[in-house]
Amino acid sequence: MIKLKVKNSGIVKLQNFDDPPDGYLYIGTVKKEIPFAIKRIYYINKLANKIAIRGKHAHKKLHQIIFCINGKFTLNLDDGNTKQSIRMTNPGLGIILGPLLWHTMTKFSKDCVILVLADDDYKKEDYIRDYTEFTKLI
Ligand code: TYD
Repeated sequence: MIKLKVKNSGIVKLQNFDDPPDGYLYIGTVKKEIPFAIKRIYYINKLANKIAIRGKHAHKKLHQIIFCINGKFTLNLDDGNTKQSIRMTNPGLGIILGPLLWHTMTKFSKDCVILVLADDDYKKEDYIRDYTEFTKLI
């Protein structure tokens, strides 16, 4: 079981119905497993470059939940004081990325698919892409 050490984070466990070999069903309902109203979703697939580094930013206000719905990747979290890396392998476990949590995604398996739920629209001005600026805001 994952134990989070970083601030502004959390774990979401989806409801699941396992029906092998006929598939695995995962369910997240707002106000039950999902702690905010979802305004936007995005997903990342075809991560053929296993040494790709995605993320490398924090947000000022945005709340997101990140899932690895297929394959594996490593989620690296940094709240400005504490760092933690989580190997994402369980499609039913999401990590809440709250404000001011620097995150990078690395070590992707070829079949990795990342799903993100967000509580707001895409806003360029909500991104902190400079690590020095991030540490000043902590
Ligand atoms: P970015 O958030 O940096 O991706 P990642 O954290 O996965 O590496 O976004 C990559 C590009 O896509 C960037 O130019 C902004 C754009 N983008 C949108 O236009 N809308 C969105 O909802 C998202 C998530 C990204």
